[in-house]
Amino acid sequence: MKPCTIIIFGSTGDLSKKKLLPALYHLDVENRLTADTKIICMGRGEKDQDDWKSLVSGYVSEKAREGAADDALENFLEKISYFKNDINDGASYQDLKILLDDPANSFSDNIVFYLSISPSLFGVVGDNLAAVGLNNEDKGWRHLVVEKPFGYDQKSAAELEAVLSRNFNENQTYRIDHYLGKGTVQNIMVFRFANLLLEPLWNRNYIDHVQITHAEQQGVGGRAGYYDGSGAMRDMIQSHLLQVMTLIAMEPPADLNDESLRDEKVKVLKSIRPLSEDMVDSHAFRGQYAAGVVNGQHQKGYLEEDDAPDNSVTETYAAMKVYIDNWRWRDVPFYLRTGKCMPESKAMIAIRFKKPPQELFKGTDIGDSHANWITMGLQPDNTLRIELQAKEPGLEIKAHTVGLETNEAEDPAHKLDAYEAMILNAILGDRSLFLRSDEVDLAWKAVDPIIEKWSKEQDFVHKYEAGTWGPEEVSNIFDDSCHQWRNEV
Ligand code: BG6
Repeated sequence: MKPCTIIIFGSTGDLSKKKLLPALYHLDVENRLTADTKIICMGRGEKDQDDWKSLVSGYVSEKAREGAADDALENFLEKISYFKNDINDGASYQDLKILLDDPANSFSDNIVFYLSISPSLFGVVGDNLAAVGLNNEDKGWRHLVVEKPFGYDQKSAAELEAVLSRNFNENQTYRIDHYLGKGTVQNIMVFRFANLLLEPLWNRNYIDHVQITHAEQQGVGGRAGYYDGSGAMRDMIQSHLLQVMTLIAMEPPADLNDESLRDEKVKVLKSIRPLSEDMVDSHAFRGQYAAGVVNGQHQKGYLEEDDAPDNSVTETYAAMKVYIDNWRWRDVPFYLRTGKCMPESKAMIAIRFKKPPQELFKGTDIGDSHANWITMGLQPDNTLRIELQAKEPGLEIKAHTVGLETNEAEDPAHKLDAYEAMILNAILGDRSLFLRSDEVDLAWKAVDPIIEKWSKEQDFVHKYEAGTWGPEEVSNIFDDSCHQWRNEV
């Protein structure tokens, strides 16, 4: 581990309070930050250093897994300082440079810039850092971490890319998709590539279809102002769910090197069957929650949320059918869905196999054969289940479904947050958990026809009662009348 300086832009924002600072604290507790690593928190307002430290102490204590021990917290706070920065003011970056260069402060020349700010400000921060030479890697490395959303369609993502690449090259750029930092998502690769058993079955000859579900009980809450310009297709499917899909569908990489991995993911995204406008209705579906009851609590409808426009058709539920036109997957539908105000908060993958070619047990009590399933729970639990048919005990030939199941329930005291892995990898210079620009571009390309058509159709969106699994009409995207969503691992 090398020492580094971590500079957080937008450190007074929600993400920083809830995720970044607690993740840094946990990394520190695990001795993943060297003693001379320092964290500079940038913010607009004037703040006294001690006042800021006591605020940070509060944010961290709230999230600390085992409660924040006094000495661990003290150690961590020693690494922290606050720097008043006006994002638009070049002089403020001069001051930052002077601070960093002063040998008395002993800041490491290896710097992570973490932009937890609106993407509309990425350009100005990049330009200002470059104006004082802070993008320059002469003395140490410079890694620029950028939060999502990365654009709102293919064109705007390309524009954002052009703005970033003015000052930072691809190797310096770390585009966040926090799903890749989840241990359970990383487990997809281990499950696939550490088990020879699966590989011969992992293709169109044996797999009927794949489902990827992300459901959450919470509504948009106070975020409607932002969310209304986004919607579930952009917010979840374009990013997190397509990424999960690439991990299920990709070929084994040559090695675990970040570029080898990303090359394979890109190949999947390149093979997605493009949608023309007239295919959208049979491949995508949107819904919006109406009032209902979630977890025993009344939930108001999306249109009643603060800042949601009265006539909004923004989707809080979206589903998409994806075909990957390559040798392994051609004609196997991948169904992706996400929704807010669902009955449960969970993310899971369900893979349904084809039925055996011969209905050997049709005339017996077993009857028609059942398909095998493999399911993987990504959250809240890390579960893996393989469903098989087995004979029931007794004289008759009757079958029932048995599940071989692992549930690697994490001890809550040790449950890692995705941001710990993300920040650690950004420090180590390992880009395998981050998106490459061509991945972002191709993911937008896959969903662009849908969001474009939906943006033109502003008169209707299917409603679903909060606390249900979404509108039933979503079944219109299924390829086969026997397909249906699986809600349980
Ligand atoms: C974020 C979306 O990227 O992911 C949120 O903007 C969503 O709307 C969240 O709630 C879901 O992440 P997780 O880790 O809670 O499944």
